[in-house]
Amino acid sequence: MKKAASLRWNSVTVSSQLFGRRMNMASHLKKTTVALAALLAGGALLLSLDGQAREGAPSAVEPCAGASGWDLACLRQTYARPIAGWPRPQVADGVTPAELAPVSAMPVPSLAPAVVALGQRLFYDPRLSRSNAVACLSCHSPAHSFADSKRVSVGHEGRLGQRNTPGLLGVAQIKPLFWDGRASSLEEQALGPLQHADEMAMDVPALPAKLAALDDYTAQFDAAFGQGAGVTLPRILTALADYQRTLLPPVTRFDTFLEGERTALNDRELLGLHLFRTKARCMTCHSGALLTDQQFHNLGLTYYGRKKYEDLGRYLVTGKDGDVGKFRTPGLRGVAQSGPWMHNGLFPQMVGLLNMYNAGMSRPVPHNAQQAADPKFPVTSPLLRPLQLTSDEIIALKSFLEVL
Ligand code: HEC
Ligand code: HEC
Repeated sequence: MKKAASLRWNSVTVSSQLFGRRMNMASHLKKTTVALAALLAGGALLLSLDGQAREGAPSAVEPCAGASGWDLACLRQTYARPIAGWPRPQVADGVTPAELAPVSAMPVPSLAPAVVALGQRLFYDPRLSRSNAVACLSCHSPAHSFADSKRVSVGHEGRLGQRNTPGLLGVAQIKPLFWDGRASSLEEQALGPLQHADEMAMDVPALPAKLAALDDYTAQFDAAFGQGAGVTLPRILTALADYQRTLLPPVTRFDTFLEGERTALNDRELLGLHLFRTKARCMTCHSGALLTDQQFHNLGLTYYGRKKYEDLGRYLVTGKDGDVGKFRTPGLRGVAQSGPWMHNGLFPQMVGLLNMYNAGMSRPVPHNAQQAADPKFPVTSPLLRPLQLTSDEIIALKSFLEVL
């Protein structure tokens, strides 16, 4: 076992398996990810020696897996049952995930339509920015699940931000906000992009007067909130927040399936769902209707000590050493439309991302005494481990993610 494992996890296998032919990135990222893959080879080796299931071999407790692969008729029968009778999610020890649930199970906020309509108008209006060229919509587009298609965001005068734009589907349920959780409400959050020099760069105290002089904004604010006060900053923030609270995920075939129409997913998507709950252990962190536990985890993507790319994540908010490199688990509704993925947009291809999960993610280890003694040295989540998914299983998982 030991020998086979070390052969399997030599760095050549890992890096080609991880990044494949379809990896298409700026060259600096390529170099970094190859370095990452090399680190990963070490970490994965350690992890694969602890006697877990052999590559590709179905686990002993898996009733629908035979020697020659998955028995789809068996999976169909299993998933024809009510959800409570489905295979229990296989997750890391100590985790109790919320069951998957359709959009219809999510609370529908009751909001004043006039405030929501005003909020939508503000969200779409680039004149909320200093240059009159950047709207919330510029980075949060409906075609991309209210994210964009860029590695990191592009804002005021084309400036690049530090992070990838998250999608906003179901954002009313997400708390705290931002990848590092630094905002506790949508109202508080909206101030961030309005004044950020790389986003809308607006002189926020001047914004109410600027809007009040435009079109019929004053009348619309009064109609939405009551006569008299006109355009104020709290009203702007409330309207933007209430509009975003209405951004429920669209109902998909996944919802139809969950609601009982068990033919709504094809064989490959069904296998993907099964793997997501079981062998791939995704529900350890991606659970509930939005497929997030809303917790912070370190997936080994901190770039610790590499000044240009380093992002300390949750640590920037809490100052706790153990939070270095943790980011909030993103929801996965509409995820196929919101790539590139991760807080730094590292993965332009879903297969690359899934290969990385399959290898147990990156697990940097200290290389010298100074690093070993550094209390901030990032620790990749112990909830992750290599998964031994076959390439067909990776494709099935990808197909499942595409129906969310
Ligand atoms: C230049 C691109 C850009 C613009 C313009 C922009 N955003 Fe964002 N938005 C981002 C990025 C990038 C993040 C993630 C930043 C982080 O986590 O540090 C983000 C995060 C968010 C989040 C948090 C989502 C979550 O899951 O935590 C919300 C809500 C949001 N933006 C709403 C808005 C609103 C409202 C506006 C307009 C007032 C706006 N954004 C303008 C790029 C942008
Ligand atoms: C230990 C918790 C954990 C587990 C297990 C986990 N994820 Fe994640 N997932 C996260 C976190 C945290 C992020 C964001 C990390 C970052 O940006 O640094 C993430 C990001 C993602 C993204 C990118 C989403 C986006 O909007 O950028 C996808 C897709 C994803 N995960 C799918 C999966 C799949 C599929 C599995 C199972 C193979 C899985 N995850 C297992 C915590 C987890």
